[in-house]
Amino acid sequence: MGLSNKELPKLGFLYMDYVLRFFDYSNFKGWPNKIETVTYHWGKDKNRFIKEVKDKKIDVLIGNIPATAYETFREIARELPNVRFIPSLDTQFSNKSKENVTRFAWKYNLPIPKTYIYYNRENADKFLQKTEYPKIVKKSYGPSNYGGYFVHKVDSYKEAKELFSTKKYHPMYFQDFVPMEADIRVMLIGHKPVCAFWRRAPEGEWLTNTSQGGSMDYIDVPKSVLDLAVRVSKAANAEYWACDVAYGKDGKVRILECATAFAAFPYIRDWIGQYIMWSLSEGRFRKPHIPMFNWEELGKISPDLLRTMRHITFGKYNASYDGSYFGKKKKMYGESEHYLHELDSAYKMFDVKERTFEEWPSEKWNYQDRFALKNIKSMKVPALKTEEAPIPSGDEASLAIEISEEQLEHLLLSVKGLTEKKLKKILDFYNHEELIHILETDPRALENVKGIKTKMVEKITAVWDEYKTK
Ligand SMILES: Nc1ncnc2c1ncn2[C@@H]1O[C@H](COP(=O)(O)OP(=O)(O)O)[C@@H](O)[C@H]1O
Ligand SMILES: [Mg+2]
Repeated sequence: MGLSNKELPKLGFLYMDYVLRFFDYSNFKGWPNKIETVTYHWGKDKNRFIKEVKDKKIDVLIGNIPATAYETFREIARELPNVRFIPSLDTQFSNKSKENVTRFAWKYNLPIPKTYIYYNRENADKFLQKTEYPKIVKKSYGPSNYGGYFVHKVDSYKEAKELFSTKKYHPMYFQDFVPMEADIRVMLIGHKPVCAFWRRAPEGEWLTNTSQGGSMDYIDVPKSVLDLAVRVSKAANAEYWACDVAYGKDGKVRILECATAFAAFPYIRDWIGQYIMWSLSEGRFRKPHIPMFNWEELGKISPDLLRTMRHITFGKYNASYDGSYFGKKKKMYGESEHYLHELDSAYKMFDVKERTFEEWPSEKWNYQDRFALKNIKSMKVPALKTEEAPIPSGDEASLAIEISEEQLEHLLLSVKGLTEKKLKKILDFYNHEELIHILETDPRALENVKGIKTKMVEKITAVWDEYKTK
């Protein structure tokens, strides 16, 4: 079963000068063929890079693209239409800037703190005069943008004005202040949570980043947090993903950050490698089995030791074998108690597939270069008008479409060729609410579901549009 050595795609690692390497050969243990490497040297290196990928006949380029190379790599990806990037440039859209994270969340109706993005400084100033405080001001984009270093709390218009006049952040990006218990980092592979931990702020502080002296622990990450992280990973079509979720004092969950580039122990990168090998080999390599809440146990090991541990594997739950930890252990989760292995079927590892369209083309989404600070000063651009108004965040937004779960299923089954079996696959992947949202905003995301092709999506969209106009 599975592809032979010859049939396997040719892999390449995407490396960059001066950037830490997320993967190397050791994460792809057992891959029988040579894995190429292609290194981007920055500057005017685009054409040489493209040529090297072509010369090496690479089918799949694996690696993270840092913020400052993102736009160049969107161009590179266009010139290599037959190369699959893992993660895709669309998936890595959020890597570029906080603005992009926000636009991604707005599109998919994912909860985030209420966020304001202004390219027009005069309008921002008008808004800041009348809004409520405190607000959190952030630098949206820039190298080494992490750890709360470019995140500020302002308590009044005066403070906000002062900050923006000294910092010159562009765009002007700020959020409502959300009082929070902690923030939680969740890492996912194939939309399945594989690691999660709390990060709490030191006493009396509001920044929860551990780099600033907070604490972390792996115990009892709430269901609402894992569920949100799964939704976000699916929306991004991410092979692997990390999501920082704010756990509010109001009990609500909101996304703070998400990206494919994050710090992860080597054993987690091994799991990602194994997952990718499985996904690309049509079953030749074993799908990694990563039990839910493994992190509560692995988290007991000292980080120094954990950093050296490699290729951690787990046996699957087996009903006839009663010595198994992950089979016997129960856990309070959500409203009730569950066996851990039951949670494994609730949080499946999906085979993320390549998409054939561009979701976030730069012509439309690269606001930063289109509305660079110098342009705005020298021009009176009426075209800016539509970008000026802060768009309400998904935080309090609600769904306008009234349709019961039964009606929705009935409607989908009326689509020619959409069988009960296909419907089940769709509902395994997206719950009803997500499905409605996707039908409204991005039906092509249905192609994430195995067996759903572009033609089928077109038919579904037609039926959906007809339903709405009735
Ligand atoms: N809207 C907000 N309200 C309250 N605290 C926030 C808000 N946004 C961020 N923070 C705090 O600031 C920290 C850093 O913000 P984040 O957006 O993660 O930026 P960075 O890229 O610097 O990590 C978060 O971990 C959180 O503790
Ligand atoms: Mg952060």
